[in-house]
Amino acid sequence: MSKFIVLLGPPGAGKGTQAEVISGRMGLPHISSGDIFRHNLKNKTELGVLAEGYITKGELVPDDVTIAMIKDRLSEEDCDGGAILDGFPRTPTQALAFDNLLVELDSKVSAVPFIQVDESELISRLTGRWTCPKCGRIYHKKNNPPKKNGYCDDDNSSLYQREDDRVETVTNRIRVYLDQTEPLIEYYRGKGVLLVVDGNQNIYDVTRDLLGVLGLG
Ligand code: AP5
Ligand code: ZN
Repeated sequence: MSKFIVLLGPPGAGKGTQAEVISGRMGLPHISSGDIFRHNLKNKTELGVLAEGYITKGELVPDDVTIAMIKDRLSEEDCDGGAILDGFPRTPTQALAFDNLLVELDSKVSAVPFIQVDESELISRLTGRWTCPKCGRIYHKKNNPPKKNGYCDDDNSSLYQREDDRVETVTNRIRVYLDQTEPLIEYYRGKGVLLVVDGNQNIYDVTRDLLGVLGLG
């Protein structure tokens, strides 16, 4: 049976950072709804233009648009064995739609690691984040710096700071998370698939615990 892992956690918890590792270990694609939106935004597609206003304010893109986008992505061949989802589902409506979609695919959510991080830590993680525009690799100016300041270790591209990582937007993203996404913790706990991981530790210790709860340690 295919394996669908949902990474849950507040903005800046380390979902993208850890999804890359799990994706490599499990041989499943890493699907980040935020990355798909940003890719569309960069290419000025209809979806990108629509999403831009929400993303820059730190609000959520409407459920119907987001669900259709993910459904489309999951229909691609590389998802036949499952996927690591990062940033989706993010509302109770999206979680229900995802469950229904997986029923159609004769599958279900296998595990939901919840990366728990204290709110005070999130702001410094997000405002210090640097991302590679070419390969998507995530850095942090203090916690996970590149070898050469400002440039990607893998492809030497000039790193950029996300537009929505400004402190005012970050505060709103955390508020939106508490309001709309946090209820999913109980939703998945009720289904018996929630795995809580202490995300306040350094990146390597979080990876170790995450692989441990997923039985990959
Ligand atoms: P999205 O891109 O999903 O952003 P997010 O959920 O806010 O998550 P982030 O990417 O900010 O954080 P992360 O947990 O991946 O942390 P990371 O690994 O980068 O969404 C952006 C926007 O798109 C939303 O606001 C919304 O508008 C829209 N959107 C997306 N999905 C949607 C959906 N389903 N529905 C509606 N709208 C949607 O790490 C952060 C930093 O911390 C990095 O610098 C990293 O190096 C560092 N770090 C990571 N782990 C550690 C550690 N253990 N210790 C120290 N530093 C660490
Ligand atoms: Zn790169």
